[in-house]
Amino acid sequence: MTGGRVDAIAIDGPASSGKSTLAQEVARRLGYVFLDTGALYRAVALALLSSGVTRFSEEDPAVVRILSALDISVTPGASGARISLGGLDVTHHLRGEEVGALASRISAWPSVRKALFDLQRRLALAGRIVMDGRDIGTVILPEARLKIFLVADPEVRARRRLKDLESKGDRRPLETVLADILDRDRRDRERPLSPLVQAPDALLLDTTRLSIDEAVTWIIDHYR
Ligand code: DC
Repeated sequence: MTGGRVDAIAIDGPASSGKSTLAQEVARRLGYVFLDTGALYRAVALALLSSGVTRFSEEDPAVVRILSALDISVTPGASGARISLGGLDVTHHLRGEEVGALASRISAWPSVRKALFDLQRRLALAGRIVMDGRDIGTVILPEARLKIFLVADPEVRARRRLKDLESKGDRRPLETVLADILDRDRRDRERPLSPLVQAPDALLLDTTRLSIDEAVTWIIDHYR
């Protein structure tokens, strides 16, 4: 902690803007831990999907029951956090498309954001951490010593996403991936609670034409 600020970097931005890639590399170079907070929303989505519930409504009694019994634990590490659900390590089950799509929907629910707040705040306040998400600089850790708001052209983000999907053997047309990205942008920006918005004191970084190394160096230079 320096001058009321926490030694941490908050990186917020829309889907596929490069947040986690940059956050992980920045953390590695600084010797900090790295937490991709999207994984927590994905863990909640996984808990719902594996519960057998089929109606994903915040008011549904079965959903309310699952959310109130959520047992998520996070073990941060240099190359990312391990996430457990009910004591079971689910880190490798969070990246699927179905989980991501449901995470995008339920992250607008106040009950979900509330359930994940304390956990994120505690990890953030411990410091020496690079956290990425949508509301880290605005809600989770406004005291972060450096806040970055990442942006990138939607088509460039769609191409990055496409490459990512193709590496997993998942082929889709660019238009479908782009439409999905724009849809997620809209949901992230328009939700009433903790929408995706640049904090007044966050630095804007447009990664459209930057290499990973250029962006990482830019972030570290500003942190130092
Ligand atoms: O970054 P991601 O795609 O893994 O995140 C999954 C979903 O979680 C995403 O649709 C938005 C939501 N999210 C959020 O609302 N707040 C965060 N701090 C991180 C993610």
